[in-house]
Amino acid sequence: MKSFSRIALPIIGFAAWSAAQASSAISPTYAPQNSTIFQLSADPEFAFLFEATLSLAENEGSNTGEVLRVATKVISGNISSYYPAYYNFAEKIHAIAEGIDPAVDPAGAREAYFHASTYYRDSVYLLVNNASDPRLYSVWDQQLADFAKAISFLPVPGERVILKAPNSSIGPFDIPTYYYKGSDCDDRLPTVIVGTGYDGPQEELYHLPCANILKRSINCLTYEGPGQPTPRRAGHAFITDWNSVVTPIVDYLHTRKDVDTTRIVLLGDSFGGLLAPLAAAKEHRLSAMFLLDGLPNFRQAVAAQFPPQLTGLYNDSKVDEFNQAILQNLNNPEFGTGFFYIWAYTFWGLKNPEPYSAWKRLGDFVWNETTAAEIGNLPVYVAKGRVRRQHDSFRAGAGEENLTYHEFLTSLGAGEHTSIGAEAQIYASFFAWLSEIWGGYKFGNSR
Ligand SMILES: *[C@@H]1O[C@H](CO)[C@@H](O)[C@H](O)[C@H]1NC(C)=O
Ligand SMILES: *[C@@H]1O[C@H](CO)[C@@H](O)[C@H](O)[C@H]1NC(C)=O
Ligand SMILES: *[C@@H]1O[C@H](CO)[C@@H](O)[C@H](O)[C@H]1NC(C)=O
Ligand SMILES: *[C@@H]1O[C@H](CO)[C@@H](O)[C@H](O)[C@H]1NC(C)=O
Ligand SMILES: *[C@@H]1O[C@H](CO)[C@@H](O)[C@H](O)[C@H]1NC(C)=O
Ligand SMILES: *[C@@H]1O[C@H](CO)[C@@H](O)[C@H](O)[C@H]1NC(C)=O
Ligand SMILES: *[C@@H]1O[C@H](CO)[C@@H](O)[C@H](O)[C@H]1NC(C)=O
Repeated sequence: MKSFSRIALPIIGFAAWSAAQASSAISPTYAPQNSTIFQLSADPEFAFLFEATLSLAENEGSNTGEVLRVATKVISGNISSYYPAYYNFAEKIHAIAEGIDPAVDPAGAREAYFHASTYYRDSVYLLVNNASDPRLYSVWDQQLADFAKAISFLPVPGERVILKAPNSSIGPFDIPTYYYKGSDCDDRLPTVIVGTGYDGPQEELYHLPCANILKRSINCLTYEGPGQPTPRRAGHAFITDWNSVVTPIVDYLHTRKDVDTTRIVLLGDSFGGLLAPLAAAKEHRLSAMFLLDGLPNFRQAVAAQFPPQLTGLYNDSKVDEFNQAILQNLNNPEFGTGFFYIWAYTFWGLKNPEPYSAWKRLGDFVWNETTAAEIGNLPVYVAKGRVRRQHDSFRAGAGEENLTYHEFLTSLGAGEHTSIGAEAQIYASFFAWLSEIWGGYKFGNSR
């Protein structure tokens, strides 16, 4: 086993996996010239997380000065320094929010509550390695409460809607969603259903996809399913029958008076870009699908960052050796924060603390030509460059004419995982495509 701890493999933060090949791991010789994007920490996992929170500044989710200040408190490679840096900051911004009279300044109150909610969420991000940690739940309630206040002060208040999944491989469960109207009247508008990824909270989706959708007078609904942050806290692990989550949402949209049910789009962000096709294979009332990164085989993409000795143990069914190799290296600095985190979220999201069987289960989350054939004629837009094979799978299963593939460029600042921080480029391209699909549809210009 010792040999593993001596492999100075630059395991890049999972979250930052798309940046992996272009940038360096924790290194005193960090050279920005060779990075996908300028890193805010020598620890690439932390750097990615700061970058993600910075990007929320685009639409009221954070302020750049605040995030850059928090970043001064986080010590590279020290996971314990992450929680207090964000939590203490969140408490202070929350106090500011409480001091604003929303009857006088609703926009000010809204923005302060949005920021506090963001920083509360961030604080517990790396605590998922201990499901008994009470902060995982208590601070989550704080982030939800501040977010609820923030969306109540939107010009058209956001709605928290809890839907019921009547049946699934794990029986019935609740689907937490937020619905944001694309206009202040009840015109029937197109609607984008936005699904998050492996670990991303849906609240942050308001600030990125939804902001870009709403400004075009399109409704936006976000949701989380089993394994994702809020349903996981209710005890639900990831499931592969993702249509069990998406179908009740489409049913719900069909009951609303402000939804054009002929124009319902499914957007999958990151790992959501794997889950969305699984749902679309069974749910055929969609008008289009947008995969913002994502991939047909998540485990394979993660495995590509592990030393071959590790995946070799798994391939050879060496259960005990594989378990030991993972568990003994979780806090090995040579493996980096990203290695710790991908396993921490995997144990948590799958509700399985044993590396071997959790890894085996992760292998069930795949789609292929068969899935693509079931999806049929649905127009699909696949964004980004690291997942060329996804494009190929679709081409094999469905017609090329209904598939669009677009690579956003590192040279234009869009090379990060899901192109965070370059949303203007992503959504201009996506909506131009959607307009074509919808016969020259003209979008609004509302916020
Ligand atoms: C960037 O990478 C290239 C190719 O690997 C290398 O030659 C160059 O020295 C690197 N630049 C810096 C500043 O490290
Ligand atoms: C890591 O950060 C925590 C919290 O800030 C601190 O108490 C601890 O001393 C740090 N550990 C190291 C090794 O720097
Ligand atoms: C997990 O958190 C609980 C509650 O704070 C604590 O009692 C326990 O020691 C922690 N477990 C580990 C493995 O750190
Ligand atoms: C519920 O779903 C499971 C698996 O998806 C299926 O086996 C079962 O028959 C379903 N039950 C009902 C009542 O639909
Ligand atoms: C393990 O198996 C996978 C899937 O068959 C394969 O892609 C990979 O190359 C194998 N890795 C090693 C180190 O044997
Ligand atoms: C596609 O994946 C499914 C499981 O999701 C599997 O049952 C099927 O055999 C695969 N098909 C091909 C062609 O690989
Ligand atoms: C593309 O989609 C259209 C409309 O949904 C359909 O009529 C057509 O057959 C599809 N083309 C292919 C090659 O699947």
